Amino acid sequence: MDIIHTVSELRTRLAKELSIAFVPTMGNLHAGHIALVEEAKRHGTCLVASIFVNRLQFEPGGDFDRYPRTLEEDCRKLAAAGCHVVFAPDERELYPAAQEITLSPPLAAAQLCGDFRPGHFQGVVTVVAKLFNIVAPHAAVFGRKDYQQLFVIRELVLQMNYPVAIVGVATKREPDGLAMSSRNGYLAPGERAQAVQLGRSLRRIAELVASGRRDFDALCEEAREGLAAAGWRVDYVELRNRSRLVPPGPADRDLVVLGAAWIGRTRLIDNLEIDGP
Ligand code: PAJ
Repeated sequence: MDIIHTVSELRTRLAKELSIAFVPTMGNLHAGHIALVEEAKRHGTCLVASIFVNRLQFEPGGDFDRYPRTLEEDCRKLAAAGCHVVFAPDERELYPAAQEITLSPPLAAAQLCGDFRPGHFQGVVTVVAKLFNIVAPHAAVFGRKDYQQLFVIRELVLQMNYPVAIVGVATKREPDGLAMSSRNGYLAPGERAQAVQLGRSLRRIAELVASGRRDFDALCEEAREGLAAAGWRVDYVELRNRSRLVPPGPADRDLVVLGAAWIGRTRLIDNLEIDGP
């Protein structure tokens, strides 16, 4: 596996590759990330992963500085998974000038996480566009764990004509159901035990909706109240139509329930797709 830190070396390394499957990450890799690499094997002969903690998508006062950086361990995991090339630029390499040119995210970004993380999706679409320009992949693999991000990336590709097939992969979970996340490492033991409640609240909504309930607002409000009573600070629990990521109408059957909430200083997100009755 080649570990490459500069854009020019990467371009040289990839110049003759016929089909590139790309997995962008911010590192501190866990089994969820590795599942993306496994899926990538089905979409290209050369597997490229990037590791870059993208300052642009962190809000001021966010966890950019404390975000875990574990490059050596990450490279070991990627090599074991069969990755061919790791692109791990430093900030100067990826942002050689102040990034005055940015992309505005699509309308779907102006809700859910976008309401609580100003500038986040602008930072995501800008860095993903740059990475697509550098890696020039044929396919790129993203997790459904970050459901709104995946939706926004699909819009990026559609609206900006990137010749990249976007592949979504199911959320990998711990045995107790907690969605794997680099941020789980921030949790103190008591918080870790509590963390499973977010996914459970979403699952309860999913079950009730699947069994015919259509009082969406009341279901979400109940979940928000339950989490708040258990000590969470809830950003949102919302139902959306999957194909357009808008609030569902009563006849919609392709739904997803999404939630984001804080335990202490740690913000967790999760979602579940629901097939209506
Ligand atoms: P990061 O949080 O490192 O996630 C990298 C990829 O791994 C994303 O596509 C994310 O959805 C996926 N992922 C994370 N946890 C997962 C899990 N439990 N199961 C399945 N997939 C999971 O998302 C980012 O980085 C950044 O925003 C990035 C796209 C790299 C742009 O900077």
